[in-house]
Amino acid sequence: MRTQVGIVGCGPAGLFLAHRLHRAGIEAVILESRSRAEVEGTIRAGVLEHWLVEMMTEMGLGARMLREGHFHTGITLQWNRQRLHLDMEELTGGRKVTVYPQHEVLRDLIAARLADGGTIHFGVSGTAIHDVETDRPFLTWHDGEGLERRLDCDYVVGADGFHGPGRQAIPAARRTEYQKVYPFGWLGILAHAPLSWPELIYANQGEGFALLSTRSPEVQRMYIQCDPADGIARWPDARIWAELRARLETDDGWVLREGEIFQKGIIPLRSFVCEPMQHGRLFLAGDAAHIVPPTGAKGLNLAVADAVVLSRALAERYRDNSAARLDAYSDTCLRRVWKGERFSWAMTTMLHRNAQDSPFERRIHLAGLDLLRSSRAAATALAESYVGLPPED
Ligand code: DHB
Repeated sequence: MRTQVGIVGCGPAGLFLAHRLHRAGIEAVILESRSRAEVEGTIRAGVLEHWLVEMMTEMGLGARMLREGHFHTGITLQWNRQRLHLDMEELTGGRKVTVYPQHEVLRDLIAARLADGGTIHFGVSGTAIHDVETDRPFLTWHDGEGLERRLDCDYVVGADGFHGPGRQAIPAARRTEYQKVYPFGWLGILAHAPLSWPELIYANQGEGFALLSTRSPEVQRMYIQCDPADGIARWPDARIWAELRARLETDDGWVLREGEIFQKGIIPLRSFVCEPMQHGRLFLAGDAAHIVPPTGAKGLNLAVADAVVLSRALAERYRDNSAARLDAYSDTCLRRVWKGERFSWAMTTMLHRNAQDSPFERRIHLAGLDLLRSSRAAATALAESYVGLPPED
């Protein structure tokens, strides 16, 4: 088999790339090790930046998101049992975010891709990337029946997540990896419960971080900071609600509305960047090249921004036979990636209780929050990063 662009990974980066290439008249094939049901059922974050919502709408991929997603024009921050409302729309000249879960985005994009006649091979194993230093790279894998398959391509994209083969296909001596592992994780739940507050609340109170988010008027998403080594068995429902209450309560009689928890899990927090994001005819996109801690929900948005930059570069390569944008791909992406890393790290640091921090640092984090109350410039900077800037052209 042969195609123009072979994409490893059917996540946000791979799917948006395939859609945008299709619109530019460029053929792509996606390989994915998980089943379609697994891809469409994995619970992740759910905040889409302003430009991404506009782009999905403009690409004809936003109909269900516009119907079922929730617009948020502000967020609430909380510490010392008090809340601060940040009016992001007002601070940013009209921009907002949309809460629409990542797996719903993937469902919409997979359905649209298949309806367009696109090819996605799910459930493949042993994917290997070959000869990216030549102008004839290719992919091999085993299909569901165990048969070896081969795809010859002009270009290969590793959009295959942190653990995929994409990044490993850049020789270790040719890449630098930057990493920070945080000494806390997030316990996330989904609960059948009514809304407790009209916008997302990011709190640092009591034992540390809590986030009140939502999925629908009947289903709420909440997270609390926990020990990353904890097994979920150490967190019976009653303990989760007690911690959420302690971290989200205020002095004005507000009550958290509880309900049946029907999904829970613990994730570790890390920051990671691989430089460069390209090698020969291989390009990395999304989690294969960079991970952010979830505070601020930048992961999906950064991944799609990579796909936008790469699709423009490939379009220029095929249309004008110019590789200038492709050659600059890594540098262009990394300028945006590092700002996303900085924002996610700053939000994480300010909003969590870190046992390794001194009382001095704890005071600094609270001063950072208080600055948002007293300085419009500080509030505007946070709001601008939160609603997100479009990828540079
Ligand atoms: C959600 C996740 C986040 O990491 C965040 O910052 C906001 C919302 C969510 O899953 O709803």
